[in-house]
Amino acid sequence: MKTPTSIPNRQWTSSLNGISNLTLVQITTPLPGPNEILVRINAVSLNFKDGEIVQGQFNHHKAVSLPEAIVPCSDAAGEIWEVGNGVTRWKRGDRVLALPYPEYRTGRTTEEMLGGGIGSSGRGVLCEYRISKEDAVLATPAGMTDEEACTLTVAGITTWMSMNGQRPLGSPGGNGEVVLIQGTGGVSINGLQIAKAAGATVIITFSSDEKLARARELGADIIFENGGALTTTKSFNCIRFGGLFNAIGYVSGKVDAKEDERLNINVQAIRRNVILVGLLNGPRDRVEEMCRFYEEHGIRPVIDRVFKFEEAKEELEYLWSRSHFGKVVLKVH
Ligand SMILES: NC(=O)c1ccc[n+]([C@@H]2O[C@H](COP(=O)([O-])OP(=O)(O)OC[C@H]3O[C@@H](n4cnc5c(N)ncnc54)[C@H](OP(=O)(O)O)[C@@H]3O)[C@@H](O)[C@H]2O)c1
Repeated sequence: MKTPTSIPNRQWTSSLNGISNLTLVQITTPLPGPNEILVRINAVSLNFKDGEIVQGQFNHHKAVSLPEAIVPCSDAAGEIWEVGNGVTRWKRGDRVLALPYPEYRTGRTTEEMLGGGIGSSGRGVLCEYRISKEDAVLATPAGMTDEEACTLTVAGITTWMSMNGQRPLGSPGGNGEVVLIQGTGGVSINGLQIAKAAGATVIITFSSDEKLARARELGADIIFENGGALTTTKSFNCIRFGGLFNAIGYVSGKVDAKEDERLNINVQAIRRNVILVGLLNGPRDRVEEMCRFYEEHGIRPVIDRVFKFEEAKEELEYLWSRSHFGKVVLKVH
């Protein structure tokens, strides 16, 4: 049983029944136990998945079993406020980022690691103070504000893995490759920044098809497939022989195409000897590698808008309206 502190602490909770039903509640702040840390959360960034979870629409991951009520969100930056006995990695005041899948440390993920995700199966970060194990956070990259850095551990690492997940740790990526990125949301704009810094030629679409025609001419080496049902065929038509097809999202809908429009993925993939990757976030060592890349290249994540902690509902509504460019962030402290 952890001793509570006198630190006032509020958290947003969702019963997975809609954005308007989110509630802000006062809770006690426990002291960290052995090998635990108490983090003061300064900034939280929203992801597409958070909107789905809060609205009861996140239902396609066997490994994720959602509780009846959760504290949503998994992307946060903050500072160490208290350390428990035995903590060796951190001291008070250190700046840290939460890891969305704390057990996912290296290599490929497992269903068990995914099942330990925060803001889905486990308690999320939409709160003012949060206890975690000392190895469930990593150092914030130098030269970034908390609002910028909190965008990295989901959107950032997804784009990093799309570029570099199939290469050895430490490979810079890029070098004149053609990268096709769909849209101007969080994953896409992070992807644009990383790919450009790596020396790639980037083609980015924004709710339009016109750039896909150019991509088709060039033959994209790497594709960020965010759209799903309505865009997959077009993406296959753009990919070069031996290219890398990252299945990242399904923003055009989860429903399969009609029978007569169905895509034969095998034919598409074999025809061009494509590497097909179903992306699922990335491990801790690759997040650290990505953070070093951001530092070395002085990349600052693009923030569309910063909301106040009390405005979580407005922020989620804004994200869901899809009018943003880059990331939407909530300032907690
Ligand atoms: N696999 C993973 O590990 C992982 C991690 C993070 C996110 N994701 C997924 O990636 C997708 C994007 O996430 P996000 O956080 O970047 O979301 P976001 O910030 O809400 O952005 C939504 C994106 O979807 C684009 N879009 C909307 N309708 C589209 C369509 N019909 N076809 C193609 N693109 C369309 C938007 O482009 P416009 O600018 O053109 O409107 C925008 O780029 C989501 O499906 C999310 O679940 C997957």
